[in-house]
Order: sequence, then structure tokens, then C-alpha cells
Amino acid sequence: MKTQTRNLLSSLAIILITCLFFASCVEKQLEEIIEQQDEEKTMDTVEPSQPEEPVTALPGLPADVAGYTQWLKLNAEPIPPAPGGDPHNGTKNVYVNKTREDIAPNGEQQFPYPDGSIVIKEAYRPGKDYVGLIAIMRKKAGVDPDHNDWEFTEYLRDAPDAAFSLKFQGGICWGCHARVEDIDYVFTELE
Ligand code: HEC
Repeated sequence: MKTQTRNLLSSLAIILITCLFFASCVEKQLEEIIEQQDEEKTMDTVEPSQPEEPVTALPGLPADVAGYTQWLKLNAEPIPPAPGGDPHNGTKNVYVNKTREDIAPNGEQQFPYPDGSIVIKEAYRPGKDYVGLIAIMRKKAGVDPDHNDWEFTEYLRDAPDAAFSLKFQGGICWGCHARVEDIDYVFTELE
């Protein structure tokens, strides 16, 4: 009777130990699977998922306007070509390298623009599906105090795979933009 009990107990012990062993194995495997899944998840988030916009500037454009389409857009709807002649002929969008908070702290736009501001306008030429014109206004302290220290440059290209080249700058630009001197030479206001 005693031996039987002892046998029974040792069998139970063996079963128990085996169970514990397997349980810990299974637990370990589960942990490994979870770890793997976590790793896959972080890889997913770290791996760049095809950026929508290029982070380098379009060929021929200055490096400081790279990724401008992600900046704050001043106009709500694309600006159509102006009737009766358009100096920047095309359908246009205007962006600035500032936040809404920077330039309209109380919901209302403040002027002048701060030093270092870059206002950029892209235009799709009529009937074309690529940006053919880039006009830039850069606010640089001391560069032109008579015209609110804006530096004006305009770049053009006539094919989607061509590089932009600098075509116009300076007086030809501010001569017209001076019409809106009261709002710091920038026609398009934040919408
Ligand atoms: C005959 C007038 C005229 C001339 C010349 C002109 N612009 Fe403009 N520009 C405008 C108007 C009007 C707008 C407003 C948006 C629109 O209707 O295209 C504008 C918009 C812009 C914008 C977007 C910010 C804003 O003011 O709304 C930039 C940047 C710009 N022009 C740069 C230039 C540069 C650089 C030149 C010179 C190469 C130039 N402009 C010459 C009339 C002019």
C-alpha cells in the first residue's frame, strides 16, 4: 500500500514536472512570437511608406524650398489664371514656411511677415499637368529695406522632367507687388 502511494505520488510528480516544463516552453514560444510581432510592427512604422511629396527640391530650385507643398497653404482653393492677362499665368497655389499660429496668432493675419519667411507660388500652366513656374519671395533682413526686405525670384521650366532655371527677379516683380504694400507686398492673404 505504501509503495503504491509512493509510486502514485512520484508518477504525479513526474506528470506535474512535465506539465510545468511544457507550460514554460509554450510561454517562451508565445513570448517569442509576441516579440517578433512587435518587431514587425516597429519595422512597419519606421520603414518609410512611399512619401507623397519629394523631400528634395525639384531640380534647379534652391534647396530651402524643398518640400514646400507641405508648408502652410495661404489659399483655400487653387487660384485660376487672372482674366485679361496673368503675370504668373496658370493655376496657382501659394505656400509659406510658417505655421498658421505664427502669422495669424489670434485667427487674424498679422503683417509684416517675420524675417526668414519664404512665400512660394507654384503655377500649373494652362493645359499642363506639371508645375511650370515657381515664384519665390524671401524676407531677408537688410536685403532691400525700401521694399520690406523681400527678395523676388522666378523660375521656369517647360517640361515635367526639365530642371527649373531662374528667369526674372527684382524690380520687375516688386514694381507690381507694391500695389499691396499695405499687406507686406503679398497679394494672397491667409484663408
Ligand atoms: C503685373 C503684376 C505682377 C508682377 C509683375 C509680378 N507679380 Fe507676383 N503676383 C501678382 C499677383 C496678382 C499675385 C496674386 C496671385 C495670383 O493672382 O497669381 C502674385 C503672387 C505672387 C506670389 C505669391 C504671393 C502673393 O503675393 O500672393 C509670389 C511669390 C510672387 N507673386 C512672386 C513674384 C515674382 C518673383 C515676380 C517677378 C519675377 C512677380 N511676382 C511679378 C502680380 C504680379
